[in-house]
Amino acid sequence: MSDRPTLQSIREAKHRLQGIIHETPLIESRSLSALMGGPVKFKPECLQVTGSFKIRGAFNRMAHVAQQGGAGVVTASSGNHGQAVAWAARYFGLKAQIVVPTTAPAIKVAAAEAFGAQMEFLGTHSRERLERAQQIADEKGYVFVPPYDDPAIMSGQGTIGLEILDEWPSVRTVVVPIGGGGLISGIATAIKALSPDVRVVGVEPKGASKALLSRQAGKRVELSHTNSVADGLISLALGTLTYPIIEQHVDELVTVPDSDIIDAFWLLFTRLKLVVEPSGATAAAYVLKHRLALEGPTVVVLSGGNVDPHKIPAMIPVV
Ligand SMILES: Cc1ncc(COP(=O)(O)O)c(C=O)c1O
Repeated sequence: MSDRPTLQSIREAKHRLQGIIHETPLIESRSLSALMGGPVKFKPECLQVTGSFKIRGAFNRMAHVAQQGGAGVVTASSGNHGQAVAWAARYFGLKAQIVVPTTAPAIKVAAAEAFGAQMEFLGTHSRERLERAQQIADEKGYVFVPPYDDPAIMSGQGTIGLEILDEWPSVRTVVVPIGGGGLISGIATAIKALSPDVRVVGVEPKGASKALLSRQAGKRVELSHTNSVADGLISLALGTLTYPIIEQHVDELVTVPDSDIIDAFWLLFTRLKLVVEPSGATAAAYVLKHRLALEGPTVVVLSGGNVDPHKIPAMIPVV
């Protein structure tokens, strides 16, 4: 397999995922379209198996591991990817070990444990967790399943792009949150292969703007520190594989402050009746604030819904 997802690898992933995951329907809200400036539809991956899009890539990657008779898998993840790896491991009958930050939301850790994965807590930096996961892979002979920097992972995430174009061919703009960049790399690859005029916009929290800073610097930038309420988007850098794909296929990179992400969380909650975690509400935050849909039919990817219930009261606006 090449370093990059292709339209063909994304189509193969779609085939593999059929009957396993939900083809989430686009959801429309007149009141949110009015607030966002034009016709908007939401891709609610918060309703996906395991509560986030991550199952698409993890399942696609682990189908290869199972086919090759692997004993187990290991990964490092802030939560949603770990949960997806645990779910797919149970499906394929593989052992799973997951290295998570000490700050990982309890809801994500509990779900991965419930699927039978062995958890290990380590620090708050993605780099040290990745190194530890690699060490476990070497010691136990497990296959390391990266959270984003892998062509099979990106291909799985790219199935979202196929579904959007199938369901709403007149879409003009697709807005996607960015962590390590696997989600947007897959989606943008699918979209630019089939409808190159559709604009792909990537959104990051202001406190973790590694994609925007990399574009401005003309090279992949690694931040020394990131911070945001969007716990799935705080990786220190894009991947070495995702960075060039984002540079080639993503038309615009923008950032939003945490306060806008929290506002979007509440609007999605009250208007759509959807529980969307802060990372999943980040793309919506930008579209709301900048009325992006004024430029034509827009799809906003709501990438996940795994928010710790006890963290919700702290996000209630003071009136
Ligand atoms: C809910 C949610 N949205 C978006 C992302 C970002 O995905 P990626 O790292 O592929 O850019 C993540 C990553 O963990 C996530 O959990």
